[in-house]
Amino acid sequence: MSASTIKPWVVGNWKMNPVQAETTQLVAGILDQLSASDALAACHVGVAPIALSLMTVKQQLAEKSHEIAVVAQDLSVKAGTGAFTGEVSAELLKDAGIDHVLIGHSERREMFGDSVEVLKQKLVNALAAGLKIIYCVGETLAQRESGQANDVVMQQVKDIADCVSDLQWQQQVVIAYEPIWAIGTGKTASPEDAQAMHANIRQGLSVLTSAASQVAILYGGSVKPENAEALAACPDINGALVGGASLNADSFCAIVHAFAASK
Ligand code: 13P
Repeated sequence: MSASTIKPWVVGNWKMNPVQAETTQLVAGILDQLSASDALAACHVGVAPIALSLMTVKQQLAEKSHEIAVVAQDLSVKAGTGAFTGEVSAELLKDAGIDHVLIGHSERREMFGDSVEVLKQKLVNALAAGLKIIYCVGETLAQRESGQANDVVMQQVKDIADCVSDLQWQQQVVIAYEPIWAIGTGKTASPEDAQAMHANIRQGLSVLTSAASQVAILYGGSVKPENAEALAACPDINGALVGGASLNADSFCAIVHAFAASK
């Protein structure tokens, strides 16, 4: 299987946004544009709202579409249930019908103490509970400028490799390459640079798992309708993890259409 036959993903990471009324409007706008569209057959689509809105977004989507996934932005290092104030475990997400979760976003690594050990525990919990994970990797500007980007990113992939079986790589893991210098800055990696990193990740993955050609590798970092088509045309870019542009139904759906049309 060549990597270009992977069905693409476009996932909106809403981060700590928006307020409830805007969330309802955003979901309605996405449903208006996508629920009757062929794009959902050609592209996996997901949205990652704040934890408070996971269930309301899921219910609102289910009125018109069961194909748009609701993705949790985080999960606990603790598994199951118990006296862990403020936490939501993988099992509780799964029990609520939430099947996908982001792990390793640079904002969590940098601001909330998600060390490699913490991320591995979250990943182990998520995989054991049957969740699909979107595992984020990416280098800083200083690391890119000093020529370390490939090594840094591959190390982040290797960090989790001993916790993921071939079958899990195949069925439960998506990688999102998000260069930190491109997140929320308006600067996007050029399609050539992004493709080169994605090819590097896939090559590195082939040493770690026989499922390397089946792992979707998404690009994230200032993805917009204006650059989506060029990114989607790259053979190893299997989708997008979209921040700012996913808070507007028109721009999010334009990105979905670009990826749906390209593969
Ligand atoms: P932006 O699209 O706002 O740059 O955010 C990317 C991101 O962090 C998605 O997870």
